[in-house]
Amino acid sequence: MENMAKLPINIVGDKILRQKAKKVTTTDDSTVEFIKDMFDTLHASDGVGLAANQVGSRDAILIADLSHVEGYEETDPIVVINPKIIKSEGNSTYEEGCLSLPGIKLEITRPEKVLLRYQDTDLNTHEENFSGLFARVIQHEIDHLNGKLIIDYLEEEALKNLEPELQKLKAREIEVPYSVSVHEAF
Ligand code: NI
Repeated sequence: MENMAKLPINIVGDKILRQKAKKVTTTDDSTVEFIKDMFDTLHASDGVGLAANQVGSRDAILIADLSHVEGYEETDPIVVINPKIIKSEGNSTYEEGCLSLPGIKLEITRPEKVLLRYQDTDLNTHEENFSGLFARVIQHEIDHLNGKLIIDYLEEEALKNLEPELQKLKAREIEVPYSVSVHEAF
């Protein structure tokens, strides 16, 4: 096995999840190394996407890897820096989970297709269309970079019902099959 560097994942209650990411203006070897660690963390936690602030960085970076999902085996993992949705189309509703909200699944409605402008690790700009689950994951991770979580889509009543579970997560009174950040005072 080569060096695996799994990073602890921030979960609900951690301030950084509510902070907006900063635009990445330079990249170097440490950026590439950090992204590699993000992939190690994602694979170890069985996730499909990860945003940098979920693992302690304010940089506007997200990754997605759907190659272990049925129907998406042929897709390549993607690194997205400084994402911006240029166009979106349609609507679909699907149950989403989040590594920062272990155990919680919510039906979320999002545009079905997006045209994404983003930069790669050399800061070259690309525009690419995404649809289906790939579009959904990218939008979910962009929400993270904007300090937004899936619970923010809930109506007041539904959020209130979820509050006891959220309090448990915030206090780390939960079993999570991957490494999470230490409990912050809140
Ligand atoms: Ni998430």
